[in-house]
Amino acid sequence: MMFARDSSEIRQWIENGVTDVKSGSQTWREQRAKGALKMPAFGKRLSSAQIDDLVRFVMLVNGQLRPEDSLAAVGFNRADSLGCYGCHGQGGWLSRSNPGSFKGYVASWATADFNDLVHNRSEFDQWVTTGISERMLNNPIAKYFLRRSTLHMPAYRDHLRPGDLDALWAYIQWLQAHNR
Ligand code: HEC
Repeated sequence: MMFARDSSEIRQWIENGVTDVKSGSQTWREQRAKGALKMPAFGKRLSSAQIDDLVRFVMLVNGQLRPEDSLAAVGFNRADSLGCYGCHGQGGWLSRSNPGSFKGYVASWATADFNDLVHNRSEFDQWVTTGISERMLNNPIAKYFLRRSTLHMPAYRDHLRPGDLDALWAYIQWLQAHNR
């Protein structure tokens, strides 16, 4: 990522195949001319929304998308240590496939799927501590799909430290606010 300092430079690479600053450099143009492979410009082939998604993806895999707020930052790190990203994807953003489940993937924490499954803080606590929510337990269809899926949400009850639920919740709130 020495070639892109921030989101606007990542966007320039994707749209134009180069950043505004580099395109003005004679040395860079000479180097580029010698290279066999050149970064293509995707600006005319992708919609602005698709480029937004790619910029966010690049920042995410680079670890550049992190909360500044301290409680949310603790939540980000705890989710990492507790292994949440193994199923919910890096940072909880990227859905992983989950054959046999209702949607076919483990829901990301950043999308509307999360809001369908978690209506409030108390449901969130139930999911994390017991691996399911009371509402889902009382819903035969949901229960059927949750049972037959390949991956199952573990019950973290015995693995949580005091304050973990607050921190994880703060991180997910941050994530939701940054996905709009
Ligand atoms: C072994 C895989 C696995 C791990 C590890 C895991 N989860 Fe899950 N989680 C699931 C599955 C499967 C579901 C069921 C719903 C689904 O398919 O999206 C789920 C559901 C949830 C839900 C309900 C909303 C949603 O987005 O699906 C929350 C909240 C949640 N997990 C939080 C966590 C947290 C926090 C951690 C770490 C402390 C964690 N999970 C670790 C697999 C996992």
